[in-house]
Amino acid sequence: MACNQRKRPLPRLRQHGSAYLYIPLHQLRVRPPGYPSVPEQIDWHELFANGVAPVNLDVGCGEGGFLLRFAREHPYENILGLEVRKTLVQWLEGVIRDEQIPNAAVLWYSVVNGLRFLESSSVRRIFYLFPDPWPKKRHHKRRALSVPLLQEFARVLCPEGLLFWATDSPDLEAYHWRVLSEFGQFCCETVVEDSDWGIPLTDREQACRRGGIPYVRVRCWKRCPVF
Ligand SMILES: C[S@@+](CC[C@H](N)C(=O)[O-])C[C@H]1O[C@@H](n2cnc3c(N)ncnc32)[C@H](O)[C@@H]1O
Repeated sequence: MACNQRKRPLPRLRQHGSAYLYIPLHQLRVRPPGYPSVPEQIDWHELFANGVAPVNLDVGCGEGGFLLRFAREHPYENILGLEVRKTLVQWLEGVIRDEQIPNAAVLWYSVVNGLRFLESSSVRRIFYLFPDPWPKKRHHKRRALSVPLLQEFARVLCPEGLLFWATDSPDLEAYHWRVLSEFGQFCCETVVEDSDWGIPLTDREQACRRGGIPYVRVRCWKRCPVF
């Protein structure tokens, strides 16, 4: 069954939140008002009907089209969306309730603070799809992808775990390849065919297709596959 996010009117949204939201809390001298909490642990009963920790993570889930579609296609796996814009999170929580999708949840959180609330080797897939609203070089410091974040991705992924990423910004693509190469522990390949990609399209990806905007999709293994 398809989800219709737009049954619930989307609130007015800024393209991104205040600049401090993209800086890890430990690097800020004081905690700014309106900074999302940085939990060390989460009671999964508060987010998922079955009380089980998520095995899929949608980082920067935005309006949640992908999150909802993936959840519907994998009803026996929990998926958690992380999103830094609070208004969007509150709206998406309402959509998830309206659509009654018990295996999807969204957390108001800035991923630059790592993933301490997830156990090591507990996640099957991390989706980092069109995530960073900071294509300009002068905003480089606000980009979330970094070696410490990749360390966190590698820690929480199980040995067969996969990282999927995509972007329509050539600068961000080059930046992502650079950080991945610096980290050096993921084995990555670009994916062209939808049948090979195997996961639903995101809202941004659909917009790219409608507008004829080129983009790249990459799948990375935590452990290199033996073919
Ligand atoms: C361009 S949208 C893409 C949304 C969705 N993944 C898609 O492909 O349609 C990027 C989203 O990532 C979120 N985001 C950016 N930086 C983030 C961060 N540090 N932590 C969590 N979410 C973040 C933004 O607020 C925005 O909603």
